[in-house]
Amino acid sequence: MLNVLVVGGAGFIGSHMVKMLGQTGCRVTTLDDLSSGHRDAVLYGDFVQGDMGDRAVLDAVLSRGFDAVMHFASFIQVGESVQKPALYYQNNVVKTLGLLDAMRAHGIQRFVFSSTAATFGEPQYSPIDEKHPQQPVNPYGRTKLMVEQVLADYALAYGFRSVSLRYFNAAGADPEGQLGERHDPETHLIPLVLQVAAGRRPHLQVFGRDYDTPDGTCIRDYVHVTDLCSAHALALQSLMAGQGADCQAYNLGSGHGFSVQEVIDTAQKVSGRSVAVMDSPRRPGDPSRLVADPTMARQNLGWQPQHSDLRTLIEHAWRWETRQA
Ligand code: UFG
Repeated sequence: MLNVLVVGGAGFIGSHMVKMLGQTGCRVTTLDDLSSGHRDAVLYGDFVQGDMGDRAVLDAVLSRGFDAVMHFASFIQVGESVQKPALYYQNNVVKTLGLLDAMRAHGIQRFVFSSTAATFGEPQYSPIDEKHPQQPVNPYGRTKLMVEQVLADYALAYGFRSVSLRYFNAAGADPEGQLGERHDPETHLIPLVLQVAAGRRPHLQVFGRDYDTPDGTCIRDYVHVTDLCSAHALALQSLMAGQGADCQAYNLGSGHGFSVQEVIDTAQKVSGRSVAVMDSPRRPGDPSRLVADPTMARQNLGWQPQHSDLRTLIEHAWRWETRQA
């Protein structure tokens, strides 16, 4: 039985991963400090509340012995990372280095890392494949790129094996309705649109209608959280089987872009409610179009997104939103 540590397993994507690992017969342990995650989102396995930056906590957990570690615990707000870079470098880089050190000390050499499309910066072409230059334009993207670079060096020097998965726009919710997005504050488009539809917010701000896109709003590649978790499971399999290079990285998206207006239109159809919008200025740092080329994940990992068409993804997120108080 595979034994996996999920760091950040009480968060949005981590909690879906814990459920998938638990349901597929893995032994799973979550380490989470609950700074933004939720204890009741951890549906399977053991739970340890603790700070991954605390070496004593790491030693206690890692001494249980694991085949691999999946690392979801990071700060994720681009705007905040510009205002508070120290917080982001400390949490996303320094603490991750501590985790890697502790893993090596305990002889655990397999790692799946949550990276991001933000490592690419302003797109030079679309869709974005793995050869696209990585020139992040904010501290958040830089923290994730730094860890990717550390992992490349650790592969060469220590034979440390890792897969970095660069999410485009993670969205959706557990198809069985048990889990979903609960960020505080919520900044992501789909939950915000649905909270307006549900009557919990007065309106949605549309950040810019003057982009060089067919309807003037930004285009993004929305990928279902359960599909992201499938990619993690496949990455784990590939690490266990010793397949591929010691350090691998894949872009995870559906390969299809949708505009902010298309998201609003689909949310209105799915919910049967109208969504009030307020046109607002562009949000600083938003590229006009971010779409993944997921070919390499398909070819090397055998990844096939199952739920990432926009309507299905919004249906799952809507079911989750309507269950919230
Ligand atoms: N948007 C609005 N109104 C809102 C919120 C978002 O119009 O209230 C727009 C944004 O301007 C953007 C699109 O909806 O065009 C998607 O925005 P999100 O905030 O949902 O997601 P981002 O594309 O900004 O962020 C995602 C990930 C980040 C990652 C980034 C890479 O969530 O972790 O992509 O650029 F860093």
